[in-house]
Amino acid sequence: MKESIDSTKIPQHIAIIMDGNGRWAQKKGAMRVFGHKHALAAVRDTIEAADDLGVKIVTLYAFSTENWSRPADEVSALMEIMINSFISELPRMVKNNVRLTAIGDIKSLPESMQRNLKNTVETTKNNTGVRVNLALSYSGRWELEQAVKDIAKKVVAGQMTVEEISQEAIASHLNTNDMPDPELLIRTSGELRISNFLLWQMAYTELYFTDVLWPDFRKEHLEAAILDYQKRERRFGKTGTQIKS
Ligand code: IPE
Ligand code: IPE
Ligand code: MG
Repeated sequence: MKESIDSTKIPQHIAIIMDGNGRWAQKKGAMRVFGHKHALAAVRDTIEAADDLGVKIVTLYAFSTENWSRPADEVSALMEIMINSFISELPRMVKNNVRLTAIGDIKSLPESMQRNLKNTVETTKNNTGVRVNLALSYSGRWELEQAVKDIAKKVVAGQMTVEEISQEAIASHLNTNDMPDPELLIRTSGELRISNFLLWQMAYTELYFTDVLWPDFRKEHLEAAILDYQKRERRFGKTGTQIKS
């Protein structure tokens, strides 16, 4: 499949809603946490494939603001799995030149997770391969709320005027201020919704939904999504004729 992909039209930034871990486990008669444990293999394969194809940034929705309302034992198991992954995956990230960054309400995460995350971000910060951007305790509305507060504070302090509140200024107050908007969003598990992911950033993102459950997602599924993306005509409000000329 890789051969059919146009290497000159690779999305720079792909956002992924990694959904379906619980159902994957339940289908096997196992506990939901079993699915979360098997998510890592999919993450590894996806990152490697994205890097091979020349994708610059992969933003992974790992834990949403709303996910805090899940049963406490599932939340703590998820946190533990993520902490262990930061530790176990660091050597691989270093070897493969992967850079890790994070967006979201990092301060709300358990202390030991913050420490391990910070260490991984620090250790990989000069890596020049694919950038894996984890959305942790993240939601689009939370992010916009923070941005509005930050802007309001600057206006009140006289550091910014109301006229200076432009779309560029808003974007520069988001957690994603150092990355382009994603050209492609992939959601696994057959759900057809955004679930409070990158709301501002996805204004013109191409959406791709697949029934594959996240723990089963592999290189070929990423390639299929990119192939589908490459068949689309991104019009940004213009007519098809304008785009072709
Ligand atoms: C995605 O899988 C992982 C997180 C949201 C943390 P789910 O846990 O949502 O799995 P389903 O949707 O219940 O199958
Ligand atoms: C979205 O999945 C969040 C993540 C994948 C981290 P959910 O499973 O939480 O979304 P809903 O609740 O089905 O919309
Ligand atoms: Mg889900």
